[in-house]
Amino acid sequence: MNATIHQPHRPLRLAIIGGGPSSWIGGMHRRAAQFDGMWQVVAGVFSSTADRSRDAAAGLGLDPARGYADVAAMLAAERGRDDGIEAVAIMTPNDTHYPYCVAALDAGLDVICDKPVSTTASEARDLAARAKKQDRVLCVTHGYSAYPMTRYAKQLVADGAIGAVRFVQVEYIQSGLAKPIEQGNMTDSQRWKFDADRSGLALVFSAIGCHAQHLACNVSGQKIAAVSADVGALMPGRTVVDTILANLRFDGGARGQYTITQAAAGGENDVRIRIYGERGLIDWSQRNAAYLHLNLEGETARTFGRGDVNLPPEIAKLSRTPRGHPEGLLEAFANIYREAAEAVIARRNDQVVAAVQYPTIADAVHTMDFIEACIASNAANGVWTNLQAIVRSS
Ligand SMILES: NC(=O)c1ccc[n+]([C@@H]2O[C@H](COP(=O)([O-])OP(=O)(O)OC[C@H]3O[C@@H](n4cnc5c(N)ncnc54)[C@H](O)[C@@H]3O)[C@@H](O)[C@H]2O)c1
Repeated sequence: MNATIHQPHRPLRLAIIGGGPSSWIGGMHRRAAQFDGMWQVVAGVFSSTADRSRDAAAGLGLDPARGYADVAAMLAAERGRDDGIEAVAIMTPNDTHYPYCVAALDAGLDVICDKPVSTTASEARDLAARAKKQDRVLCVTHGYSAYPMTRYAKQLVADGAIGAVRFVQVEYIQSGLAKPIEQGNMTDSQRWKFDADRSGLALVFSAIGCHAQHLACNVSGQKIAAVSADVGALMPGRTVVDTILANLRFDGGARGQYTITQAAAGGENDVRIRIYGERGLIDWSQRNAAYLHLNLEGETARTFGRGDVNLPPEIAKLSRTPRGHPEGLLEAFANIYREAAEAVIARRNDQVVAAVQYPTIADAVHTMDFIEACIASNAANGVWTNLQAIVRSS
């Protein structure tokens, strides 16, 4: 368990990059960051145009002068202030994550970056090296791994509750691309997502697939060693990737299946993970996120609830409202922001965070290795592709 992290007498000063008024994830980041009073948004580059960035800052009640035209201008201006920013949170279109992370880390700032952190594995490795060199936090907002019940699932698996992990079934199914939206007038947000140069190696992977891969590895405690993948589109005639189906082999010996699509009509935001061990199953679904099911062979099936009185304290502290009141992705994001703040504060106090819980840049490197392996496998008609081979060649 982590040592008690002494909170400062003021929130850490955070700048937002991206996340203007039209971006729902922008509101999520801002609210989550400020949920526990550990961060305060004080500045940002909220848009790619100067006027809109300034207006967005004013709309958020910030000094309009701290709504900057671009990242370089913000870093330069904030460096000269006594109350300058201490960290940035990045939620711009995907192709800008890497350069903005580089700029912020090199300026000595801590970084919270939305996924994917880069468009290649080698860029992700470069970010890992920079974060290490600067001794800065670089955390990734994979919210699904920060729900109380996914964290508890991870802990139960690590504690051996289901025995050795044999099979990991992960899925993330949405319907947003179940219509041929690229044949109509697309919004700005849709346009960059359909542009492979901007959204990354595979649209669906950058959008949701990276979350599912991260969740599978995080909860199972295993990395993916090899993959046999079918990467393509359910929508006839579509040229971008809306679906990935893959068989997985994990480094701890487990096998797995990975089902990702944004083109399944009727899907909502269906994230589900089932982990089967030698003794039984652990099962979590975002549709019923407050509960975790444990079915052990020969025993009565059990359901754990987010508000149960006997949860371990490190799991209980991930909830903020009493049982029976819904919590969701916002609170999960807030957990990541709180843990990132604790890591920053710990470093400043010369304390050590014994077990980092938030998704790290090391996780992101594995994520990028995985998608590169999926693409290589698919190009070779689904041949089993070893992630280590990808690591060596990147
Ligand atoms: N973690 C999650 O659950 C989650 C969910 C949704 C989106 N995301 C991520 O958030 C990011 C944004 O996605 P979105 O759907 O909000 O996109 P979007 O296009 O709807 O919004 C992007 C925002 O960034 C601003 N912007 C664009 N270029 C900019 C620049 N160069 N500098 C500053 N601001 C700029 C735009 O004005 C807009 O406000 C993506 O990386 C996406 O993967 C993460």
